[in-house]
Amino acid sequence: MRRPWRSALDQVTPYEAGPSLEALQAELGLSELVRLSANENSLGPSPRAVAAIRAEAARAHLYPDSDGRALRDALGRLHATGPESMILGNGADELLGLIAWAAFEPGDEVVIPHPAFEPYATVVTLSGATPVQSPLVDYQTDLADMARRVTPRTKALIVCSPHNPAGTIITNAAFRRFVTALGDDPPLLVLDEAYRDFSDDPECADGLALLSQCPTLIVLRTFSKIAGLAGVRIGYAVARAEVIAMLNRVRAPYNVNRLAQVAALAALDDREHWVETRRLVIQERRFLAGELGRLGFAVVPSQANFLLVDVGGRAAALREALLKDGILVRDGTAVGFPGHLRITVGTRAMNARLLQALEHAAPSPHRGEEKR
Ligand SMILES: Cc1ncc(COP(=O)(O)O)c(C=O)c1O
Repeated sequence: MRRPWRSALDQVTPYEAGPSLEALQAELGLSELVRLSANENSLGPSPRAVAAIRAEAARAHLYPDSDGRALRDALGRLHATGPESMILGNGADELLGLIAWAAFEPGDEVVIPHPAFEPYATVVTLSGATPVQSPLVDYQTDLADMARRVTPRTKALIVCSPHNPAGTIITNAAFRRFVTALGDDPPLLVLDEAYRDFSDDPECADGLALLSQCPTLIVLRTFSKIAGLAGVRIGYAVARAEVIAMLNRVRAPYNVNRLAQVAALAALDDREHWVETRRLVIQERRFLAGELGRLGFAVVPSQANFLLVDVGGRAAALREALLKDGILVRDGTAVGFPGHLRITVGTRAMNARLLQALEHAAPSPHRGEEKR
């Protein structure tokens, strides 16, 4: 019998994002559902981005700028680099796919932390390459272990800082050592900084500052989190021009739509929204972590817009109880941390509601101490 599909597909299951917010709300008969499961921006998008989308909507019949030139120029000014060092993607997700398509092939190995953002392993497997998993140690990326796993077959290493789902960071010093350990002929090195804007730790690795030292470094950023534009899908990669040129060979001509391009440009212009989002997340992360600790839950210290919380094996029951109260959180089992919940940091009102619902669902002081 003919086999129409690539054998790599046998090893991959479709990404399980769950039902849409609207469908879930209708199914549960809730008038309101607070989604704290997808690490979205609880302030919403910048009003300027919304206005830009509205204004652009009447041009929806026209193809977008294939090069996204205006946005790449604006990003170039932001990061003090040229537009030739940048590529836009339909979310950072698409850029992971482009990297895989351009670089990975059967026989290659790609070293990734485990657990980590699920699409890393998926794009590697789909390309026919082999993911080589490096276990987190105490919720931290173990760069020494990752470096030890490099072989002549290693095509790339992928890390994220802050890490999803742990929320922990890689420090600048550690990342520099890692880059040095990879030597003069390094594999591709992807540093996913989707949550970097939420870090208030001055030691948090700054990939853009290291581009000059590592010719194969690709830094991923997204407008989904800090700019609240997850729904229009826009992210970007920064790398040396020769790396970007390779990614452009596999990019579809109109991969980033018109609305996303103007929304991102407007969001870049609205520093107030950017700063307010960051301020809110940092303030509420501290508040929420403190209150969860007070309730007796063990919280992993986070530099992202979410918290990973050890709930002592009651993850599924607590998630269900919270859902009945109209609050959706992520069961850690789905992201490689059974016995944990991953909870997006919300506004004070959302967080207060979550805490009240949690207290109601888990009244006993059953729970461990604060993690280091
Ligand atoms: C670590 C990490 N990288 C990348 C992404 C994808 O971002 P985007 O929405 O730009 O595709 C996410 C989304 O949750 C993420 O958690």
